[in-house]
Amino acid sequence: MTRKIILDLDTGIDDALAIAYALGSPELDLIGITATYGNVLVEQSVRNSLAVLEILGRTDVPVFIGVSHSRTADSFTPARISALVHGGNGIGEVEIPDARRVAERRSAVDFIIESVHRYGEDLIYIPTGASTNIVAAFEKDPTIMDVMGPIVMMGGALTVEGNVNRWTEANISQDPEAADLLFRSGIEVIMVGLDVTHQTLLTKAGTSTWRDSGTEAGRFYADMTDYYIDFETRAVDIAGCALHDPLAVAVAVDPSLVTLLPINMRVDLEGPTRGRTIGDLAGLANPVKTVGAAVEVDAERFLEEFMTRVGSVLT
Ligand code: BDR
Ligand code: CA
Repeated sequence: MTRKIILDLDTGIDDALAIAYALGSPELDLIGITATYGNVLVEQSVRNSLAVLEILGRTDVPVFIGVSHSRTADSFTPARISALVHGGNGIGEVEIPDARRVAERRSAVDFIIESVHRYGEDLIYIPTGASTNIVAAFEKDPTIMDVMGPIVMMGGALTVEGNVNRWTEANISQDPEAADLLFRSGIEVIMVGLDVTHQTLLTKAGTSTWRDSGTEAGRFYADMTDYYIDFETRAVDIAGCALHDPLAVAVAVDPSLVTLLPINMRVDLEGPTRGRTIGDLAGLANPVKTVGAAVEVDAERFLEEFMTRVGSVLT
């Protein structure tokens, strides 16, 4: 059976890799991309998703514009580090044409609400940026919380340090209040955080196979991803780039790639640890655990799946 999915992206290099992973997975039917902010402004996220889909020949996948900033801020400006990791344009400073189409008129929030009502538990929502859109959808139509399927999110760090600071992972840092509401909503959330994504590294040996294929998509993805690999190997001192967002898609296809710790979670909202994802003391004794935090990953098997699935789309 194919599962319907929505990708909620701050497109971003690894977000673009997640699009390719989803399109290369016959088990998944990508019914739409909802745009959020984080690596880039929400408008640039829309632009990048549309442009990437055009290069991949998938102009049938609609893109919806989401909320532009968290409710605790008046606006959003990408952090300076984002341009170093993803390039100022979010796709490694590689120039690709704007898509010939534009985003849908309906908002991301309305599309999420309609899709949840239409597909119920058959829909998997996969956010790989801020949690702002889904919480806005909960607030606009709380009834979706009763019928929604699982959420597989990329974000957080439970057993390791953050990547914004020692406590905080980037996606949670964009809107800690929204992530906290999501964790404590009672909805099943699979948290694919830095605990596992930092174990999944892609090197230039992988991207060169895309470039060598000679396709436009292969060249673009190789050049874009090499920008990210160059940053990670230089600044983070790891042997490749972490495949954060594609791993969340992979877990939606095959949860056996990771080991989940059942836990009730919350997010620190005050003080220097603001944005930290941690077990919720208030839910500790509750036998019902709503979050599955990924703490182990079969990195070798995931990387094989990644190269096969992404390769099937790019080469
Ligand atoms: C997450 O933050 C963003 O920069 C990436 O796209 C990924 O979703 C990693 O912390
Ligand atoms: Ca992302």
